[in-house]
Amino acid sequence: MIPRIHVIGLTLRFPSLGVTVRCAVAIAVIMVWSSLSLAQSPEFSQGNDAPDMFNPAGPNAESIQEIFWVVIGICAVILGLVGTTLIWFIAKYRERPGDNSEPPQIYGSRAIELAWTLAPLLTVTLLAVLVIATVIKLRADPPSTAAHRVRVVGHQWWWELNYPDHGFTTANELVIPVSEPDLAKPIYLQLESADVCHSFWVPRLAGKTDCIPGRTNSMWIQAGEPATYFGRCAEYCGTQHAKMLIRVDCVSQADFDKWVENQKADAVSDDSVAAGRDRFMEMACMNCHAIRGTRAAGEFGPDLTHLMSRKTICSGLALNDRENLTRWISKPDDLKKGCRMPDMRLTEPDVKLIVDYLLSLK
Ligand code: CUA
Repeated sequence: MIPRIHVIGLTLRFPSLGVTVRCAVAIAVIMVWSSLSLAQSPEFSQGNDAPDMFNPAGPNAESIQEIFWVVIGICAVILGLVGTTLIWFIAKYRERPGDNSEPPQIYGSRAIELAWTLAPLLTVTLLAVLVIATVIKLRADPPSTAAHRVRVVGHQWWWELNYPDHGFTTANELVIPVSEPDLAKPIYLQLESADVCHSFWVPRLAGKTDCIPGRTNSMWIQAGEPATYFGRCAEYCGTQHAKMLIRVDCVSQADFDKWVENQKADAVSDDSVAAGRDRFMEMACMNCHAIRGTRAAGEFGPDLTHLMSRKTICSGLALNDRENLTRWISKPDDLKKGCRMPDMRLTEPDVKLIVDYLLSLK
């Protein structure tokens, strides 16, 4: 039987057990639990690659960081003033032994009324002006015309990435060229959704922008150093919302060009894996996945034309290798509970053939 829990603020009471867990313990439990669940995703096991909000790597993230510290600064001054006055008054006007007299009763004071109306009004106006100025800056066009376009479509629970200028589609791992000091290379993102609301968020590059069904939003990102930037879906979108990771691989222009050339090509046709390819086409796989150069043209799941050029599968959940592909195809629900890829109940030999074929899609 599940014990009844009363939640009062951050105090948890278990009446049947006679136990009360107080604030600090409840916070500690929540922190340990959340760090354990974060530790399960591969990006966290690969070192310091957690999304970092305090280390901007592009102009938009820098503007957000600046306004963040200005707002924190203003709030800190207010906290300091209010806190000091509060403590000072508590000490100064404390009840003293033997003094039972009534304090002076004040009714109406224009000066005080004006002070506590104007001070907050001016503070809130100042904050609003600063924030609106930043929003206008963020919404402005990127500083260069040498921009690439990428159409980002949020799906339950993965990201479709379409490069319309080059005519190919990939998934979950956005590859962009690095900006040079004298040549900015911003990437325009057109954000859409195929099902419910998602939100595209790579904190080191820019703020969050929602992907809303039936609407196209836009934003731009730019990165000044070659690195991998991690992001995630920032709008609750169902069971696997937490496992909808984004990788932005920022690479040199030469590597980017090479990558684009490879992505533009049709899938390699390797006769040594023909049996696996046939199984893939006979099963329902081809109804949901596209592999350019073959009959498979489904759009419901990720494009697999160059699957092996991606480092992870299941939207950043697992490394893209034989072992994980085998797990994923044999029992999708084991890796990603509630995922939209059905369990095809493939036999072990079939799984092996199909995995062999997928591994050939470089
Ligand atoms: Cu997609 Cu949350």
